[in-house]
Amino acid sequence: MEERYLTVALGKGRLAKKAMECFEKIGISCEEMKDKDTRKLIFVNDEKKIRFFLAKGPDVPTYVEYGAADIGIVGEDTILEENRNIYEVLDLGFGKCRMCICGPKSAEKLLKNGELIRVATKYPKIAKKHFYDEKHQTVEIIKLNGSIELAPIVGLSEVICDIVETGSTLRENGLVVLEEVCPLSARVVVNQVSMKMEHERISKLISDLKKTL
Ligand code: PRP
Repeated sequence: MEERYLTVALGKGRLAKKAMECFEKIGISCEEMKDKDTRKLIFVNDEKKIRFFLAKGPDVPTYVEYGAADIGIVGEDTILEENRNIYEVLDLGFGKCRMCICGPKSAEKLLKNGELIRVATKYPKIAKKHFYDEKHQTVEIIKLNGSIELAPIVGLSEVICDIVETGSTLRENGLVVLEEVCPLSARVVVNQVSMKMEHERISKLISDLKKTL
């Protein structure tokens, strides 16, 4: 029987580039993906019987859960937020950053006193878990889709729950880290059925990737 293609979903952007560098190190490359002007969404390596596609980060766990992708490379933040039925099998060690509660220094006392504050975030589930389940603090969570740092500046919320990598976005906007929620990095996730049906190939791939770290 001819070997089926393994499908890998990559979260568009910084992680995808780093992930492809990892795959190259283990002898799986995809030249056509390097063309910056391409509008192609799917890239095939016929020799290795593997194909890659680029998706919006939050959609990667969805593709993997439904088996449209056998494997996904995605940030831990997205895995926590999406909470899909997938296996998380490897920490790739790059894309390191922190999920934090941030705001102006003056918001520190609001947090400390457990006041009813508004929290703007792209990650409502993570924010809810942090405030409701861990801190037992009632807050109002406001879902945004990007440029979260704007919210406390223009008065939409008192604080934000967002990713901090270098800290420069916060610094340049007069905001600080008030609480740390958790550290984050890029992860390899696997579809639960694929893990059984393609166990040998997937395990080999994971152990090869592990050796490059
Ligand atoms: C992320 C995050 C912060 C910024 C943090 O935003 O939401 O805004 O990066 O990085 P830094 O600590 O290195 O400044 P992203 O660039 O992904 O865009 P977004 O605002 O659309 O979420």
